[in-house]
Amino acid sequence: TVLVVDFGAQYAQLIARRVRECHVYSEIVPHTMPVGEMLAKRPKAIILSGGPASVYAENAPPVSEGLLLTGVPTFGICYGHQVMVRELGGTVAQTGMSEFGRTMLSVAEEGTLLAGLPAEQTVWMSHGDAATAAPEGFTVTASTLGAPVAAMEDPARGLYGVQFHPEVLHTEHGQAVLRHFLYEAAGCRPNWTMLNIVEEQVAQVRERVGSARVICALSGGVDSAVAAALVQRAVGEQLTCVFVDHGLLRKGEAEQVQKDFVAATGVDLKVVDAERRFLDALAGVSDPEEKRKIIGREFIRVFEQAAREVVEAADAGGEPVEFLVQGTLYPDVVESGGGSGTANIKSHHNVGGLPDDLEFQLVEPLRALFKDEVRRVGEELGLPPEIVWRQPFPGPGLGIRIIGEVTAERLEILREADAIARAELTRAGLDRDIWQCPVVLLADVRSVGVQGDGRTYGHPIVLRPVSSEDAMTADWSRLPYDVLATISNRITNEVRAVNRVVLDVTSKPPGTIEWE
Ligand code: XMP
Repeated sequence: TVLVVDFGAQYAQLIARRVRECHVYSEIVPHTMPVGEMLAKRPKAIILSGGPASVYAENAPPVSEGLLLTGVPTFGICYGHQVMVRELGGTVAQTGMSEFGRTMLSVAEEGTLLAGLPAEQTVWMSHGDAATAAPEGFTVTASTLGAPVAAMEDPARGLYGVQFHPEVLHTEHGQAVLRHFLYEAAGCRPNWTMLNIVEEQVAQVRERVGSARVICALSGGVDSAVAAALVQRAVGEQLTCVFVDHGLLRKGEAEQVQKDFVAATGVDLKVVDAERRFLDALAGVSDPEEKRKIIGREFIRVFEQAAREVVEAADAGGEPVEFLVQGTLYPDVVESGGGSGTANIKSHHNVGGLPDDLEFQLVEPLRALFKDEVRRVGEELGLPPEIVWRQPFPGPGLGIRIIGEVTAERLEILREADAIARAELTRAGLDRDIWQCPVVLLADVRSVGVQGDGRTYGHPIVLRPVSSEDAMTADWSRLPYDVLATISNRITNEVRAVNRVVLDVTSKPPGTIEWE
């Protein structure tokens, strides 16, 4: 394990991901964790993450006592670097020369971190104050105009530091620097592979679940599919999956779950067709928040009923249902402040409203994984690419992509338009370039058009292609004009009721990705 000590910036997660891309397992721990507790995790290396721009900043987080004296190879990055300099007797000064963004790094001596890398290279900086003198025992290996000590190392004590951010892609050789620290300085071996993850998780689930029965709600999304497939691999027929078809999925998606997923995993699947019920509940409603509430509420009710039936069937047949599978990912775990927290929580905190007499223990086999790792685990488990590489899709589905009341007829229109847009994006090979492309029906808007010799009075369809790293921020994707033209032609020709296609060119913020 490599511990990434989080000093409060968003960089910690990125660092942890980059470490894992070197096939070394990493875990994020808060900077408030006592050193003894960190050492109990038997880390092979410790990385101190970025944080505020300076150790002198008002909100500069303190360093746990003894963090630099553990003897474990330690790498300070940005704020972590400054912490190292200051704590060990070097100087961090207000030089008045802040550096933000792309900066030229001059290498004086390659040392371990910069071995084999060019004498001049681009790095990404983000600092106010700078280290001006390294502590005793350190060799300064590189500098920039604003940071006299931009990289330093003391191999004898296993201490390394860089002012720049090796984890961001703008740092040309960042991944090499990280690799050098992990493999050369800390002696880590690249054995964190998908196959190992799958085997380890399968063994853990098996041990935890024993002979009890397990239930899982499939949504059609990647996370629940991979979680279910993993648990299925571990305990086979003890798992029952419930798929609530709320009728708000896109064309072919319900079939994908019912056929492709079952074919790939052999899972025992209970499908609840609840389209009518959702449409009835949504009748006459056009307020976005109200739609979301209704869909969420109905989903819980339908799932609860299905779960009860599974439980009753199990009770009649022997082993009780004790566990509920959840596709919780590592970023959720980190963000909710839990590091290694036990997973034994009442299910209704998570599913949001299961009744008290249905109490499950949670099985969360993806708790330690990032999204890209989940996809690779899915591939390892033999899930089809349409499921593994599925782009994000909101739980309330097309219900929040029809602006106005949701009706069966409007759903049909949107489904057709969306299927065309998706097919053309796939055909153009753009699926992995864009984060997602919501297709939105402005159901209450009509505009005049002309088709053949006739006047039409139809609805507009909005294309909302975005690129993003994490959906927190996003930019509109610059799709090739000819792809947009094909999508527009096909939709207006093939989908009756649509006579106009428009492109959303708003970033997030200010616009959210979805329209509702
Ligand atoms: P927004 O619209 O907030 O969307 O910019 C950010 C990301 O979240 C997805 N999204 C949802 N996912 N339930 C979900 O599971 C929801 O209610 C929901 N609303 C938005 C959206 O597709 C985008 O990826």
